[in-house]
Amino acid sequence: MNIRLKQVYVDENESFILNNIRNKLRNSLNMLDDVLVISKLISKEIELFAPNFTNGMRAIRSYNLFDAVCVCGLPIPVSHDSSELFVSKCMSLAFAYLVGEPFQYEQQNNGEIAAEITPTPELDNTPSSGGRVEFGWHTDDYFFSQDFRTKWIMLCGYLNPDHVKTSLAFVDDIISQLDSETLSVLMSKKFKVKVPVSICRTEYWRENISIIRVNGNQDYEIGIPTFDTKPMDDLDVTAAHSLNQLISVADKVSFSKCITDDSLIIFNNDRLLHSRSVIPNERLVLRVYVRTDVEALRMVTESVGNVFDAEKILL
Ligand SMILES: [Fe+2]
Repeated sequence: MNIRLKQVYVDENESFILNNIRNKLRNSLNMLDDVLVISKLISKEIELFAPNFTNGMRAIRSYNLFDAVCVCGLPIPVSHDSSELFVSKCMSLAFAYLVGEPFQYEQQNNGEIAAEITPTPELDNTPSSGGRVEFGWHTDDYFFSQDFRTKWIMLCGYLNPDHVKTSLAFVDDIISQLDSETLSVLMSKKFKVKVPVSICRTEYWRENISIIRVNGNQDYEIGIPTFDTKPMDDLDVTAAHSLNQLISVADKVSFSKCITDDSLIIFNNDRLLHSRSVIPNERLVLRVYVRTDVEALRMVTESVGNVFDAEKILL
């Protein structure tokens, strides 16, 4: 196992505590008001009574020590009706508050901070979070600067009867396997990248983009949806070959997790690429974007709260 991947097993005692919190939520559903306020309060309770789980989650905040944390042994939903889904959303937001500040963009997933990631009929054949076909290697929201995009992505299992796999690949592992010529091509601005329709309603390709870059921390970043990236010049076979090399190296160094109803994974969106296999039937995970803080987003969008207008922050 990669040393930057931490595996957390929730013990019986802490699982019992988390299950009691779920029960309390279930029994007070009609009294609940602001979901974020409730979730923040729950996170304080979890911090107090489930310290091992809390510390496991917080390992993700140790820069360059752990870039991904997998948790299993969480209490499972008792049904899959709308109230149980709501309980799971509150729990996932509470887990996010253990690490930082959850947020969302208005344009994505109806602005729901605990976003339901599940196939939707109109997106079935698209490589997207609402699609059913294979969703290739990517990082989320690469077209926002680091101040405005998510630092961590948390995926909480809810329904996954077909054991659909989520795959992850550490950026550093990919870089170490690329030859210097391929790396140099991928770092040059020879590519164009399509901005997702969920952010920009009309088809829009950003041009002269490099696939790999070095950020302010002197870390390599790979900010691309590999399936929506093309060489600027259709005849540039070297650029096309380099892109294919990147994808095959990511496949080679990757590891897979099956996010089931008792598990979650949280990973650093700057340090890992992710992908998903085909969804034959149903699958629902709750995705929460988490940052250390959301002050820069609040300032630039001139808004309060945790949901932001993405069109105001497009580069
Ligand atoms: Fe994604």
